[in-house]
Amino acid sequence: MGKIVILTGAGISAESGLGTFRAEDGLWAQHRVEDVATPEGFARDPKLVVDFYNARRAQSAAAEPNAGHEALARLETYHPDEVIVVTQNVDDLHERAGTRNLIHMHGALSGALCHACDHRWPAPMVMAPGDPCPSCRRGTARPDIVWFGEMPYQMDEIFDHLASCEIFASVGTSGNVYPAAGFVAEARRMGARTIEFNLERSLVGDLFEDVRLGPATGTLPAWVDEVLSRTA
Ligand code: APR
Repeated sequence: MGKIVILTGAGISAESGLGTFRAEDGLWAQHRVEDVATPEGFARDPKLVVDFYNARRAQSAAAEPNAGHEALARLETYHPDEVIVVTQNVDDLHERAGTRNLIHMHGALSGALCHACDHRWPAPMVMAPGDPCPSCRRGTARPDIVWFGEMPYQMDEIFDHLASCEIFASVGTSGNVYPAAGFVAEARRMGARTIEFNLERSLVGDLFEDVRLGPATGTLPAWVDEVLSRTA
Protein backbone atom coordinates (compact mmCIF):
# COMPACT_ATOMS: atom_id res chain seq x y z
CA MET A 1 0.00 0.00 0.00
CA GLY A 2 1.32 3.48 -0.81
CA LYS A 3 1.43 6.36 1.64
CA ILE A 4 -1.85 7.73 2.96
CA VAL A 5 -1.94 11.31 4.30
CA ILE A 6 -5.01 12.19 6.36
CA LEU A 7 -5.74 15.85 7.17
CA THR A 8 -8.14 16.30 10.08
CA GLY A 9 -10.08 19.30 11.34
CA ALA A 10 -12.47 20.11 14.17
CA GLY A 11 -15.18 17.88 12.68
CA ILE A 12 -13.37 14.68 13.69
CA SER A 13 -13.57 15.77 17.34
CA ALA A 14 -17.15 17.08 17.15
CA GLU A 15 -18.68 13.73 18.17
CA SER A 16 -16.36 13.69 21.18
CA GLY A 17 -18.15 16.82 22.33
CA LEU A 18 -15.49 19.38 21.34
CA GLY A 19 -16.83 22.44 19.54
CA THR A 20 -16.01 23.19 15.93
CA PHE A 21 -15.19 26.74 14.86
CA ARG A 22 -17.65 27.78 12.19
CA ALA A 23 -20.83 26.00 13.17
CA GLU A 24 -23.65 28.33 14.25
CA ASP A 25 -22.80 27.71 17.89
CA GLY A 26 -19.10 27.28 17.16
CA LEU A 27 -16.09 28.76 18.91
CA TRP A 28 -15.94 31.71 16.54
CA ALA A 29 -19.55 32.53 17.33
CA GLN A 30 -18.63 32.81 21.03
CA HIS A 31 -15.25 34.55 20.78
CA ARG A 32 -13.72 37.05 18.36
CA VAL A 33 -10.80 35.37 16.57
CA GLU A 34 -8.78 38.56 16.81
CA ASP A 35 -9.20 38.55 20.59
CA VAL A 36 -8.22 34.94 21.37
CA ALA A 37 -6.31 33.54 18.38
CA THR A 38 -3.84 36.23 17.31
CA PRO A 39 -0.50 37.48 18.75
CA GLU A 40 -2.06 40.96 18.92
CA GLY A 41 -4.96 39.65 21.02
CA PHE A 42 -2.48 37.95 23.36
CA ALA A 43 -0.45 41.15 23.73
CA ARG A 44 -3.64 43.13 24.36
CA ASP A 45 -5.20 40.80 26.95
CA PRO A 46 -3.04 37.77 27.85
CA LYS A 47 -5.45 36.62 30.57
CA LEU A 48 -8.41 36.40 28.14
CA VAL A 49 -6.30 34.32 25.75
CA VAL A 50 -4.72 32.07 28.38
CA ASP A 51 -8.15 31.44 29.94
CA PHE A 52 -9.64 30.60 26.50
CA TYR A 53 -7.03 27.85 26.06
CA ASN A 54 -7.33 26.74 29.71
CA ALA A 55 -11.04 26.09 29.04
CA ARG A 56 -10.30 24.20 25.81
CA ARG A 57 -7.55 22.19 27.56
CA ALA A 58 -10.04 21.15 30.26
CA GLN A 59 -12.69 20.25 27.66
CA SER A 60 -10.13 18.22 25.70
CA ALA A 61 -9.06 16.35 28.86
CA ALA A 62 -12.71 15.54 29.67
CA ALA A 63 -13.42 14.30 26.13
CA GLU A 64 -12.76 10.81 24.80
CA PRO A 65 -11.51 9.80 21.36
CA ASN A 66 -14.35 8.61 19.13
CA ALA A 67 -14.67 5.89 16.49
CA GLY A 68 -13.25 8.25 13.89
CA HIS A 69 -9.98 8.79 15.80
CA GLU A 70 -9.86 5.05 16.57
CA ALA A 71 -10.34 4.08 12.92
CA LEU A 72 -7.31 6.17 11.87
CA ALA A 73 -5.23 4.63 14.67
CA ARG A 74 -6.32 1.16 13.51
CA LEU A 75 -5.26 1.94 9.94
CA GLU A 76 -1.82 3.01 11.18
CA THR A 77 -1.52 -0.19 13.25
CA TYR A 78 -1.68 -2.25 10.07
CA HIS A 79 0.47 0.11 7.98
CA PRO A 80 2.74 1.92 10.47
CA ASP A 81 5.15 3.19 7.81
CA GLU A 82 2.54 4.46 5.39
CA VAL A 83 -0.10 6.35 7.38
CA ILE A 84 0.44 9.94 8.55
CA VAL A 85 -2.16 12.16 10.21
CA VAL A 86 -1.78 15.92 9.80
CA THR A 87 -4.18 17.59 12.21
CA GLN A 88 -5.29 21.19 12.48
CA ASN A 89 -6.74 20.29 15.88
CA VAL A 90 -5.00 21.17 19.12
CA ASP A 91 -6.74 18.49 21.23
CA ASP A 92 -4.94 15.21 22.03
CA LEU A 93 -7.64 12.78 20.90
CA HIS A 94 -5.59 11.34 18.03
CA GLU A 95 -2.74 10.52 20.44
CA ARG A 96 -5.11 9.03 22.99
CA ALA A 97 -6.69 6.87 20.25
CA GLY A 98 -3.21 5.47 19.48
CA THR A 99 -2.08 7.47 16.44
CA ARG A 100 1.71 7.89 16.50
CA ASN A 101 2.59 9.35 13.09
CA LEU A 102 0.99 12.72 13.81
CA ILE A 103 1.76 16.34 12.95
CA HIS A 104 0.00 19.08 14.94
CA MET A 105 0.34 21.84 12.32
CA HIS A 106 -1.54 24.37 14.51
CA GLY A 107 0.22 23.40 17.74
CA ALA A 108 -1.30 21.61 20.74
CA LEU A 109 -3.03 22.45 24.02
CA SER A 110 -0.53 20.08 25.67
CA GLY A 111 2.34 22.41 24.82
CA ALA A 112 3.67 25.69 26.24
CA LEU A 113 6.07 28.02 24.44
CA CYS A 114 8.31 30.85 25.60
CA HIS A 115 7.81 33.82 23.30
CA ALA A 116 11.15 35.21 24.39
CA CYS A 117 13.53 32.26 23.92
CA ASP A 118 11.37 29.75 21.95
CA HIS A 119 11.79 27.06 24.64
CA ARG A 120 8.93 24.48 24.65
CA TRP A 121 7.68 22.35 27.54
CA PRO A 122 4.56 20.39 28.53
CA ALA A 123 1.79 22.86 29.41
CA PRO A 124 0.20 22.67 32.88
CA MET A 125 -3.57 22.13 32.87
CA VAL A 126 -3.99 25.78 33.89
CA MET A 127 -1.67 28.46 32.56
CA ALA A 128 -1.58 32.03 33.86
CA PRO A 129 -0.30 35.21 32.21
CA GLY A 130 3.33 35.80 33.13
CA ASP A 131 4.09 32.15 33.90
CA PRO A 132 7.87 31.77 33.97
CA CYS A 133 9.74 30.01 31.20
CA PRO A 134 11.63 27.04 32.74
CA SER A 135 14.62 27.90 30.56
CA CYS A 136 15.10 31.68 30.53
CA ARG A 137 13.06 32.27 33.70
CA ARG A 138 11.26 35.26 32.21
CA GLY A 139 7.47 35.57 32.56
CA THR A 140 7.01 34.90 28.85
CA ALA A 141 5.04 31.64 28.62
CA ARG A 142 2.18 31.31 26.11
CA PRO A 143 0.11 28.39 24.82
CA ASP A 144 2.01 26.57 22.03
CA ILE A 145 -0.80 27.25 19.55
CA VAL A 146 -0.26 28.63 16.03
CA TRP A 147 -2.35 31.82 15.89
CA PHE A 148 -3.63 33.58 12.80
CA GLY A 149 -0.76 35.36 11.12
CA GLU A 150 1.78 32.82 12.40
CA MET A 151 3.43 30.06 10.36
CA PRO A 152 1.96 26.56 10.88
CA TYR A 153 4.43 23.90 12.06
CA GLN A 154 6.33 21.30 9.99
CA MET A 155 5.18 22.62 6.62
CA ASP A 156 8.23 21.26 4.76
CA GLU A 157 7.57 17.78 6.16
CA ILE A 158 3.87 18.05 5.27
CA PHE A 159 4.64 19.01 1.66
CA ASP A 160 7.10 16.13 1.40
CA HIS A 161 4.29 13.79 2.46
CA LEU A 162 1.84 15.39 -0.01
CA ALA A 163 4.38 14.91 -2.81
CA SER A 164 4.73 11.20 -2.11
CA CYS A 165 1.28 10.04 -1.02
CA GLU A 166 -0.96 7.69 -2.97
CA ILE A 167 -4.11 8.79 -1.14
CA PHE A 168 -4.93 12.16 0.43
CA ALA A 169 -7.94 12.11 2.75
CA SER A 170 -9.50 15.12 4.49
CA VAL A 171 -11.77 14.68 7.50
CA GLY A 172 -14.01 17.26 9.18
CA THR A 173 -12.52 20.48 7.91
CA SER A 174 -14.41 23.30 6.21
CA GLY A 175 -11.66 24.37 3.83
CA ASN A 176 -11.73 27.92 5.18
CA VAL A 177 -8.14 28.19 6.41
CA TYR A 178 -4.93 28.01 4.40
CA PRO A 179 -2.40 26.47 4.04
CA ALA A 180 -4.37 23.34 5.10
CA ALA A 181 -7.18 24.07 2.60
CA GLY A 182 -4.60 24.03 -0.18
CA PHE A 183 -3.28 20.54 0.59
CA VAL A 184 -5.81 18.74 -1.63
CA ALA A 185 -4.76 20.76 -4.70
CA GLU A 186 -1.10 19.95 -4.01
CA ALA A 187 -1.84 16.23 -3.49
CA ARG A 188 -3.80 16.10 -6.77
CA ARG A 189 -1.02 17.90 -8.61
CA MET A 190 1.36 15.22 -7.35
CA GLY A 191 -0.93 12.43 -8.57
CA ALA A 192 -2.66 11.31 -5.38
CA ARG A 193 -6.24 10.02 -5.21
CA THR A 194 -8.34 12.28 -2.98
CA ILE A 195 -11.27 11.62 -0.63
CA GLU A 196 -13.22 13.94 1.65
CA PHE A 197 -15.18 12.99 4.78
CA ASN A 198 -17.61 15.63 6.00
CA LEU A 199 -21.25 16.31 6.83
CA GLU A 200 -21.39 18.47 3.73
CA ARG A 201 -18.96 19.30 0.96
CA SER A 202 -16.28 21.73 2.14
CA LEU A 203 -15.25 24.90 0.32
CA VAL A 204 -12.68 22.80 -1.57
CA GLY A 205 -15.01 19.80 -1.93
CA ASP A 206 -14.97 19.97 -5.74
CA LEU A 207 -11.27 19.04 -5.70
CA PHE A 208 -11.96 15.63 -4.15
CA GLU A 209 -12.64 12.66 -6.44
CA ASP A 210 -14.53 10.80 -3.72
CA VAL A 211 -16.75 12.32 -1.03
CA ARG A 212 -18.26 10.40 1.90
CA LEU A 213 -20.95 12.48 3.61
CA GLY A 214 -22.01 11.67 7.16
CA PRO A 215 -20.59 11.69 10.69
CA ALA A 216 -16.93 10.66 10.76
CA THR A 217 -17.69 8.02 13.41
CA GLY A 218 -19.57 6.15 10.67
CA THR A 219 -17.78 7.01 7.45
CA LEU A 220 -14.18 6.61 8.69
CA PRO A 221 -14.46 3.06 10.16
CA ALA A 222 -16.22 1.92 6.96
CA TRP A 223 -13.47 3.43 4.80
CA VAL A 224 -10.68 1.92 6.93
CA ASP A 225 -12.34 -1.49 6.56
CA GLU A 226 -12.37 -0.96 2.78
CA VAL A 227 -8.69 0.03 2.69
CA LEU A 228 -7.61 -2.84 4.95
CA SER A 229 -9.58 -5.40 2.93
CA ARG A 230 -7.95 -4.10 -0.28
CA THR A 231 -4.47 -4.34 1.22
CA ALA A 232 -4.89 -7.56 3.24
N1 APR B 1 -18.18 14.35 11.03
C1 APR B 1 -17.53 14.88 9.94
N2 APR B 1 -17.41 16.21 9.72
C2 APR B 1 -17.97 17.04 10.63
C3 APR B 1 -18.65 16.56 11.78
C4 APR B 1 -18.74 15.16 11.95
N3 APR B 1 -19.38 14.62 13.01
N4 APR B 1 -19.12 17.65 12.49
C5 APR B 1 -18.72 18.75 11.81
N5 APR B 1 -18.04 18.39 10.69
C6 APR B 1 -17.42 19.27 9.70
C7 APR B 1 -18.22 20.51 9.36
O1 APR B 1 -19.16 20.24 8.31
C8 APR B 1 -17.12 21.48 8.89
O2 APR B 1 -16.87 21.33 7.50
O3 APR B 1 -16.23 19.75 10.27
C9 APR B 1 -15.90 21.02 9.68
C10 APR B 1 -15.50 21.97 10.78
O4 APR B 1 -15.10 23.18 10.15
P1 APR B 1 -14.48 24.35 11.05
O5 APR B 1 -15.36 24.58 12.24
O6 APR B 1 -14.18 25.48 10.12
O7 APR B 1 -13.13 23.74 11.62
P2 APR B 1 -11.76 23.55 10.84
O8 APR B 1 -11.98 23.34 9.38
O9 APR B 1 -11.00 22.49 11.58
O10 APR B 1 -11.02 24.96 11.05
C11 APR B 1 -9.70 25.07 10.55
O11 APR B 1 -9.54 27.27 11.50
O12 APR B 1 -9.99 28.69 13.24
C12 APR B 1 -9.00 27.93 12.65
O13 APR B 1 -7.10 27.06 13.72
C13 APR B 1 -8.49 26.88 13.58
O14 APR B 1 -7.71 24.66 13.05
C14 APR B 1 -8.79 25.58 12.87
C15 APR B 1 -8.92 26.01 11.42
